[in-house]
Amino acid sequence: MNYKQLDKQHTWHPYNSLPSKEEILLVKKTFGQTIVLEDGTELIDAMSSWWSAIHGYNNPVLINALKEQSDIMPHVMFGGLSNKPAIDLCTKLANLTKLSSVFLCDSGSVSVEVALKTAILYQKAKNKNTTKFIALKNAYHGDTLGCMGVCDPDNSMHSLYGEYLPSNIFCEVNELEETIIKYKDEIAGVILEPIVQGAGGMKIHDSDYLKSARELCSKYDLVLIADEIATGFAHTGLMWGCDHANILPDIMTVGKGLTGGTMSLAAMCTSKNISDTISKSDIGVIMHGPTFMGNSLACSVANASIDLLLKSNWKDDIQNINNIFIKELSSLIKLDIVKDVRCIGAIGVVELHDDKYARILQEFCVKNGVWIRPFGNLFYSIVSYTISNDELYKITKAMRIALEELE
Ligand SMILES: Cc1ncc(COP(=O)(O)O)c(C=O)c1O
Repeated sequence: MNYKQLDKQHTWHPYNSLPSKEEILLVKKTFGQTIVLEDGTELIDAMSSWWSAIHGYNNPVLINALKEQSDIMPHVMFGGLSNKPAIDLCTKLANLTKLSSVFLCDSGSVSVEVALKTAILYQKAKNKNTTKFIALKNAYHGDTLGCMGVCDPDNSMHSLYGEYLPSNIFCEVNELEETIIKYKDEIAGVILEPIVQGAGGMKIHDSDYLKSARELCSKYDLVLIADEIATGFAHTGLMWGCDHANILPDIMTVGKGLTGGTMSLAAMCTSKNISDTISKSDIGVIMHGPTFMGNSLACSVANASIDLLLKSNWKDDIQNINNIFIKELSSLIKLDIVKDVRCIGAIGVVELHDDKYARILQEFCVKNGVWIRPFGNLFYSIVSYTISNDELYKITKAMRIALEELE
């Protein structure tokens, strides 16, 4: 059996059946912005591996960090032991997020779980027994059960898990203020994706809701959790989505771009107030400790990725990407099948009226040398910051022609 056949037999792909009903492409290698398929076909990547490969693929700085650390120590347990790459990373994240207490996690979803647990603990430490959260319609915070409990109930898989999920309170962005005031005594906090809601609908908001969420959470001592897993590390043009409103959340979750898309790693960062309140209370500790917490390989790569980002001209690079997305995609609004076009930072989104085109658009782009994976009615691209203008034009051209051919 060849690899494609084995893949069909044993490998369950995300959001898919086994075997997959769609064709799964076998990747041989990657470099720069390019994915090379088994048959030698080269595709320019418009997805940056689910928005994580911010420096492109096989970046030598990240690969060197990985190689060097692998000779010293790949991993050692984090309970009772620490390691320098992990300490360096927590220090860097504390400086970069302005939230001084950092809990390392293996994936974005886990960091959201830990954030929810921490917010509940904080309230318990203050003798408040609140376990519900306010979350937003169109929210996406990950696929584990706790995370699903704060994802939009209508466009996620909530209904399949019914009573098993924690019940939370959902509102539209423009109802957030009144909802917080209404439920302030029942909730531990508010969780939101700042400025851009990602996988739940690629919605771009202006910053007012963040300011009012911050004010009200401070006023009522609720925990404001900013999930920056998708928006963080400059995807929206500023380092954090929260920077658009100049606010500091109580808890921030980061992931995806943290290791430049090389390793699985995420983190929950909290204010000193949160960690002090829990640590000095009778509860005392946070009961969470993944086996691979503080993995030295992943932390070394994350340190290299953050240093690389901070040394680069990321603001100019992302502005340039944004200019090209706006210039090349805006006119698509004139097509009948297009409902909206919106761009921010390194994100370009074309929303269609119908979700029936996703597969055809993907196939058209692959035939034209571009890897893109629309979901539902959202045809979008999030690129790495090292993409060249030519590569980006190739992506936008494929997107444009794919849509024009459908008209
Ligand atoms: C905003 C947000 N939160 C959480 C997650 C979950 O992260 P992971 O896939 O690393 O578990 C994602 C992933 O897309 C995300 O976009």
